[in-house]
Amino acid sequence: MSVNDGGSDFVTRLNEIAASTEDLLDRLLAAAPMPAERARPKRLIESMRYATLGGGKRFRPFLVVESAALFGVPRERSLMAGAALECVHCYSLVHDDLPAMDNDDLRRGRPTAHKAFDEATAILAGDSLLTFAFDIVSLARASGLGGMAGGQMLDLAAEGRFAQTPPRLGLAEVEELQAMKTGALLRFGCLSGAILGGAKDGERDALDRFGAIIGEAFQIADDILDVEGDPETVGKATGKDADAHKATAVAVLGVERAKQKLFGLVADAEATLAPFGTRATMLKAAARFVAERRA
Ligand code: IPE
Ligand code: IPE
Ligand code: MG
Ligand code: MG
Ligand code: MG
Repeated sequence: MSVNDGGSDFVTRLNEIAASTEDLLDRLLAAAPMPAERARPKRLIESMRYATLGGGKRFRPFLVVESAALFGVPRERSLMAGAALECVHCYSLVHDDLPAMDNDDLRRGRPTAHKAFDEATAILAGDSLLTFAFDIVSLARASGLGGMAGGQMLDLAAEGRFAQTPPRLGLAEVEELQAMKTGALLRFGCLSGAILGGAKDGERDALDRFGAIIGEAFQIADDILDVEGDPETVGKATGKDADAHKATAVAVLGVERAKQKLFGLVADAEATLAPFGTRATMLKAAARFVAERRA
């Protein structure tokens, strides 16, 4: 998918990194086994490729590449980490869409993986994409129990599906849930750029904070898109969160206050990049994109 909203330098760069990520994932997820693999079962590799290639904004790889670029890390190196992060993200989407979770039929403008294949294949494709990411780079804390997977557990629990009545989460609880289910991977993207670049402590902390803030903003924007987005443009069903009793920013704040919070976070994110001066122009644009995106 290529993002097209105004032709700014940011959009050009995002699309460029998306294309490089696509090429790299296409090579990594080739039909032929890698050394030390015995075989790549046809249906499994096909479903992994379906879930990974040909769609998505590739915003997480963008964050890795641009954060690393602050320290002069060449793109070939940072793209590997970006591709690994994108594999975890795509796995999270495949499982998120399963009937047992959000039960969605449309993703990235196409049938979800379990619709295009079947549930068992989608489960295994997700498992394999997650594991594959660790073949490329270590991502454990952002992906697992205390990160994305843990956050997804909190998200489902907040619907009330494991209790008689929905638990009615407050703002702080929703913030924590969202920091885990979505924030952790975006944050890791920014932090990994700093690690790859051998950043000094202060710069590393600044990128870590930047990642945490735009991670929070990203899910709030997603929650607003569920209310105001156009399914054609967003490429997935909208208007589902309220019916599912999802614990979202919109549910606790209402749309208008959620928007105010979102734009406050963008300002905070831009301020966090002050130590980098004009080197961080792309990342600042990324923060604005998070709030203004329509897809
Ligand atoms: C959607 O993520 C799921 C969330 C964590 C909010 P994206 O909006 O980044 O989805 P793609 O990768 O562009 O399809
Ligand atoms: C995304 O939350 C969290 C994930 C880890 C995938 P959503 O359930 O709101 O994501 P969409 O709206 O289906 O993309
Ligand atoms: Mg979900
Ligand atoms: Mg969902
Ligand atoms: Mg959503």
